[in-house]
Amino acid sequence: MGSSKEEIVVADAGPIQEVEAAREAFEREFGRFAHFIEQGSDAAVSLKEVAAEQRALGELRTKHLGKKGAIAAAKKLIGKVAPDERASFGQLVQQTEARISESVAGVEEALKAQIERARVVRESIDVTIPGRRPRPGHLHPITLMRQRIEDIFVSLGYAVEDDREIETDFYNFDALNIPAGHPARDPQDTFYTTEGFALRSQTSTVQIHAMQRRGAPVRMIAPGRVFRRDTPDPTHNPMFFQVEGLCVDRGITMAHLKGTLAEFVHRLFGPETKTRFRPSYFPFTEPSAEVDYSCFNCGGTGCRICKGSGWIELGGSGMVHPNVLRAANVDTSEFTGFAFGLGIDRTCARIYQLDDIRLLFENDVRFLEQFR
Ligand code: FA5
Repeated sequence: MGSSKEEIVVADAGPIQEVEAAREAFEREFGRFAHFIEQGSDAAVSLKEVAAEQRALGELRTKHLGKKGAIAAAKKLIGKVAPDERASFGQLVQQTEARISESVAGVEEALKAQIERARVVRESIDVTIPGRRPRPGHLHPITLMRQRIEDIFVSLGYAVEDDREIETDFYNFDALNIPAGHPARDPQDTFYTTEGFALRSQTSTVQIHAMQRRGAPVRMIAPGRVFRRDTPDPTHNPMFFQVEGLCVDRGITMAHLKGTLAEFVHRLFGPETKTRFRPSYFPFTEPSAEVDYSCFNCGGTGCRICKGSGWIELGGSGMVHPNVLRAANVDTSEFTGFAFGLGIDRTCARIYQLDDIRLLFENDVRFLEQFR
């Protein structure tokens, strides 16, 4: 082979040198890929880098093995070399082509292995990494307070009513014994919407709906949102929550009202809690009373929470006015009833010892998450 090669070189040096030159040129350019084969799939490169290398390798293959490459040109010469040298020349071309192909295939394999490895790393889950603890939400302190109040009254046999926040004049005023011209209808106190409608300023509106719906006897509470044109301050908000209570049956007296609210504060603040009823006025009750309870913190001796008085205001109450019963078609010769309305926000603020009820609606999670 050596001697025939010598002869070819002598006789036909051009083609052989071209093939050798093509091989050398390939080796030179291929050099930068060789480390992929040496390092196998351990070379640390990103998926993006591997993709760039694959593209470069493809270009290298096209350049050397493609139709316009040196090997393709050499193949065309095979038929032109002398017949006795043709076989060995053809073999040289084939071997060179095979070597180039093998080298390129080797790197291709290594790059594929790298892609596979990078994918596995990217898609695998490291079960040893500490988990991210989900932060569960929780109920708003007003909702928690409302639920505590509901639980107590439900256990006393009261139904829970829900009703509308926008009311007609009839439910807002007329049926509650607040005739036209009464100061409680003053637009300075009430948010009027369209003519004849207003945002309810107290949950007492639900008394009428409940009696119309259920008839008498009836025992229900109605927690809900109410609206007043009050300027915000530490004890006032233009939107706040009340719980209405209504009990209508045969023979209901003021004693039932006092007993019911006394039981309520015992269950909410403890059995030693006392109640106090102060004469008051509401158009829809007669007689009417403000209800206070002895301070749950100092027991009545006076402290910061009860502002030194020993008592905390719970809300308004009284015996349902016969005009109200009549407006709801309840027979006043057979039935009497009591009603009360408690402010949830202020009770909530007292229990959680907040100085300002506005904090409850600022929606600062750092504040709210203290009360669960
Ligand atoms: C009433 O609203 C009567 N409807 C209560 C009632 C019902 C009396 C049934 C008789 C029979 P009053 O306006 O006092 O009453 O309000 C009751 C409670 O709502 C108050 O004790 C207070 O806790 C709360 N409250 C009143 N105004 C505001 C306000 N602007 N912001 C927060 N709470 C308020």
